[in-house]
Amino acid sequence: MKHYGKICTLMYDLDKPVVPEIDLAFYLSYVEEANGPILQPMVGTGRFALPLMEKGFKIDGVDASADMLAKFRRVCKERGHDANIYENTLAEMELPELYALIFITSGSFSLITDDEEISRSLTNINRHLLPGGCFVFEVSEYDDAHALDHHWLDHHWNGKWLKSPEGEIVLQSVVQNDQDRNSDTVHSLVRYELIKDGRLVDTEFLEFSLKYHNKGGDKLKALLDEHGFEDVVYYNSYDKTYDKGRKNSNLIVECRKKQDFSRKRP
Ligand SMILES: C[S@@+](CC[C@H](N)C(=O)[O-])C[C@H]1O[C@@H](n2cnc3c(N)ncnc32)[C@H](O)[C@@H]1O
Repeated sequence: MKHYGKICTLMYDLDKPVVPEIDLAFYLSYVEEANGPILQPMVGTGRFALPLMEKGFKIDGVDASADMLAKFRRVCKERGHDANIYENTLAEMELPELYALIFITSGSFSLITDDEEISRSLTNINRHLLPGGCFVFEVSEYDDAHALDHHWLDHHWNGKWLKSPEGEIVLQSVVQNDQDRNSDTVHSLVRYELIKDGRLVDTEFLEFSLKYHNKGGDKLKALLDEHGFEDVVYYNSYDKTYDKGRKNSNLIVECRKKQDFSRKRP
């Protein structure tokens, strides 16, 4: 119920088939500068990793969903890409290599909502970086309490449907019914339905929670510092700027592993 399943994977690819050029150019700039191996955790179906691989870079991937990874592995094989792809959560991953760059796209880090799991995930990312290695990730951001209230009230119930090239209909309904202000987390239940020839053939549920982070007060910077990261820079646009007035954008965070930081396994 907590992992992306088969219909969710189908919906994800129908809904977001290609990465916008500006988003890709942002991550390409880090990939080009990386002086060593590159890892994308929460890689999903490889929406970002695949076009970067097409440009000649080797990107390893980690993800908690067997179904998302099955699609990623299939396309890698079809296109002849040689990537190490691991099924695991960020908090539990135990990889044989250290990386010069670890990046997480599209606000996916906000899917980790439990403070203890956030801490173990950051510790684990740090452990998998080479000294001075770069970590870039995105989170959902709110700038003030009012903005967060507005966001929560605005999105109580929504849905969409899309058609696959084979003519199947995928229906996604989202009910957001639990708003935990103490932990800045929004909990939703998503129902996916697969419809063929007017009949429901499969259903799947996903518990979907998003944690909102706030750059203000530098709570995030303190968290990163505690977990062995420094040189924190924030953006809220893929052109590497931060504009306080910009609405509905993720907070993009760039930081580096402290040179002398060593910490035990999470
Ligand atoms: C919304 S998808 C985005 C995928 C990719 N970041 C992109 O931009 O296309 C989020 C992905 O994060 C994965 N995920 C969620 N929680 C995870 C965790 N704790 N550890 C590893 N992967 C996780 C899901 O399985 C899913 O494939």
